[in-house]
Amino acid sequence: MISVLRKAIPAPAKRTIHRTLDWLGARSVRVFSANRWLASLYYCVFSRRFDREHLAVLKGRAAYHRALRAMERTSPLLRRNVHRLEKGLIMRPRRKVFAEAFILETVRCYNRAKDRPGYSPDELRWARDVLDEYFSVVEDTPTISKARKEYGEASDAEHSDGNEIRMFKPYPMSECPASPVSFEQLATLFVRRRSVRWYRQQPVPDDLIQKAINAASLAPSACNRQPFRFVVAKAPAIATKIAECAGGTTGFAHQLPAVIVVVGDLSAYPKERDRHLIYIDASLASMQLMLAAETLGLSTCPINWPDVDLAEEKLQRILKLPGHERVVMLISIGYGDPESGIPYSQKKQNSLITQECSAE
Ligand SMILES: Cc1cc2nc3c(=O)[nH]c(=O)nc-3n(C[C@H](O)[C@H](O)[C@H](O)COP(=O)(O)O)c2cc1C
Repeated sequence: MISVLRKAIPAPAKRTIHRTLDWLGARSVRVFSANRWLASLYYCVFSRRFDREHLAVLKGRAAYHRALRAMERTSPLLRRNVHRLEKGLIMRPRRKVFAEAFILETVRCYNRAKDRPGYSPDELRWARDVLDEYFSVVEDTPTISKARKEYGEASDAEHSDGNEIRMFKPYPMSECPASPVSFEQLATLFVRRRSVRWYRQQPVPDDLIQKAINAASLAPSACNRQPFRFVVAKAPAIATKIAECAGGTTGFAHQLPAVIVVVGDLSAYPKERDRHLIYIDASLASMQLMLAAETLGLSTCPINWPDVDLAEEKLQRILKLPGHERVVMLISIGYGDPESGIPYSQKKQNSLITQECSAE
């Protein structure tokens, strides 16, 4: 019906209709952006563009609570709480009693995690070393001694091997390795990294991708939860199929040797306020991945993933993503074709991206 109408309406009338709709759209946006109640009304009645995000955030919260009961390989709660314990341990001055509000929850979470067969051994070791350190310095209160008892009873057997070197706990900054990279070297790497869209038709070695992902895993993330994963498509046909879901690859998707889909996991959070962290943390890690790839002789191009219903549905189907996981962006990766062009892409000068903060 709509396509018949489209064909029947003459071009000048179509242009008038478009102009009128654009005008009405701009007017209504101005009216409904006056306050948050009108904005909510707008997105409830006139536009459903946030529906998918609402749903994903709620599904994430539900999955968070489900995962607390049936822990699998990693736990955002355990990671967050162990991180908070480490902050308490390095506090200056360190308090005699700290983390009282969440220590029982942490110990119980740890005790459940360590009984799960597939649980990450490194995460468990980090939790255990930090809990050991915590209980060796904290003073008892009724809650802390209860936690100490529950922790001690459950972990007695594990502590039988006295030879193990424990190191997954806070250490002095002086033990960080000195930087072997000068500012000039780093700046050269930044200049060297460009968005490369044309590639040599050559497979991308898996070990190099793994090295780049390992470098990405060292990026900072809020409360060290690392709520993302990298889905790697190395077969060119699949890489192309995935890349074609994104609008920004028109004209060059067909020759991408590999594509990495950066996926954020909303099940890391019980509260909506943290919903943006999947984008922040995944992007920080992605930047490290792209720079690391560059040092390994590989080129990359970040590819936009706007919130477009049809594209979301298509990629979610291809990757079989659960509702609480959202695509953050795609990254093409491979050996760049040295003859291909690089857009100049002038960067903003400091004065455009710096603002002095006056204290008043
Ligand atoms: C989040 C994000 C999305 C992007 N999406 C696309 C895209 O869809 N298609 C594309 O060709 N380039 C894309 N780019 C690459 C940008 O165009 C590029 O980073 C920018 O022009 C600066 O160039 P440079 O990366 O070479 O410094 C994207 C970059 C970012 C950070």
